[in-house]
Amino acid sequence: MAAKRAPRRLSGCHTIEDLRDLCRRRLPAAPFGYIDGGAEEEVTLERNRQAFAEYAFRPRTLVDVSRVDLSTEILGQPLALPLILAPCGFARLADPRGGETAAARAAHRAGTVSVLSSMASSTIEQVAEASDGPLWYQLYVWRDRGILRDFIDRARESGYRALCLTVDVPVFGQRERDLRTGMTIPPSLTLHTLMNVARHPRWIWEYLSGPRITVANVAKYAPGGRTGVSALGSYVNQQFDPTLNWRDLEWMLAEWNGPFAVKGVLRPEDAVRAVETGVSAIVVSNHGGRQLDHSPAPIQVLREIAAAVDGRADIVLDGGVRRGTDVAKALALGARACMIGRPYLYGLGAGGERGAERAIEILRSETERALALLGCPSARELDPSYLQPNSR
Ligand SMILES: Cc1cc2nc3c(=O)[nH]c(=O)nc-3n(C[C@H](O)[C@H](O)[C@H](O)COP(=O)(O)O)c2cc1C
Repeated sequence: MAAKRAPRRLSGCHTIEDLRDLCRRRLPAAPFGYIDGGAEEEVTLERNRQAFAEYAFRPRTLVDVSRVDLSTEILGQPLALPLILAPCGFARLADPRGGETAAARAAHRAGTVSVLSSMASSTIEQVAEASDGPLWYQLYVWRDRGILRDFIDRARESGYRALCLTVDVPVFGQRERDLRTGMTIPPSLTLHTLMNVARHPRWIWEYLSGPRITVANVAKYAPGGRTGVSALGSYVNQQFDPTLNWRDLEWMLAEWNGPFAVKGVLRPEDAVRAVETGVSAIVVSNHGGRQLDHSPAPIQVLREIAAAVDGRADIVLDGGVRRGTDVAKALALGARACMIGRPYLYGLGAGGERGAERAIEILRSETERALALLGCPSARELDPSYLQPNSR
């Protein structure tokens, strides 16, 4: 087989892996490692991919698939395709000029939702102004509940349709690639971390000529307006609240009083308790392998969680999705949609907004083809009968 060459431009990208290769080529090592890496030994990061191969398909034959319907509905929101852009902090490290605003526009054009991270490098208001599409806001829990209430009010006033509380970050996971490249949270790109500057002139130019990359929604709360990276970094780290518990969830549900997802659930009993507390969507996720290493892949626990929830909330699968066949497997095992993180970040890094659009389009067309080949004309009709364990 001929050796694979990394594509040089977006038009040469036919898979998410191609977008990753181009993103790697365009970004300096530190921001690329921040996006691409996982926690500790990256066992979970790798498992998130490998676990999809544990299932094989059982296609139906002689089914009319001249039309394949990918539409779905999450939290009462109709989506043209079963993909949601996951909340990712500092998206402007991938695309210094667009980042979160570019992602939101790309999602809207594809007929889906994007979720803005609490650690975003664009503000709640900027993203709402940049896109008319539906948006959700992701919350981390800050010790200062006043800030949290302010986030919730700002999201409501800016027209965000749902909140998504991430529950798998009581403390930050250890991302060892970032330690090696010198990346910090929030990012402090020093000359040292940008050592390979000369090889990435385009990214460096966009980075230096664009607005400063910071934790946009948090900077204003830092005491004394300290927005320098190290002051802000220690402020953000202090603000993460490891006491987060079920009572806080009740409080947030009451404050928001609207569609609400919990992201980062891996146990059926936690999913059931979240539903009984009033949550309307469960995102089965291990944070893309960036938090607890050696946790299971979301696809490995999906069926059990979907069975326990038993239709009382929408289920979303998040982590490791790189192919339309992955989306089809997740839907067959009980998810209504998948979240994607790195795929659209690679797209942003490879080609800004058009790159994010390309990432969504690749997954959309692969999913459509997978369903046609499975003999299943509608995403809503996939069920476990389309799969078998790979060992059989
Ligand atoms: C660079 C990066 C930053 C992330 N930042 C956040 C964040 O701020 N909040 C959050 O809930 N999840 C965050 N995540 C996790 C994603 O929301 C999502 O769970 C994960 O990327 C899914 O795995 P995938 O990248 O394999 O699709 C981040 C992921 C990446 C890659």
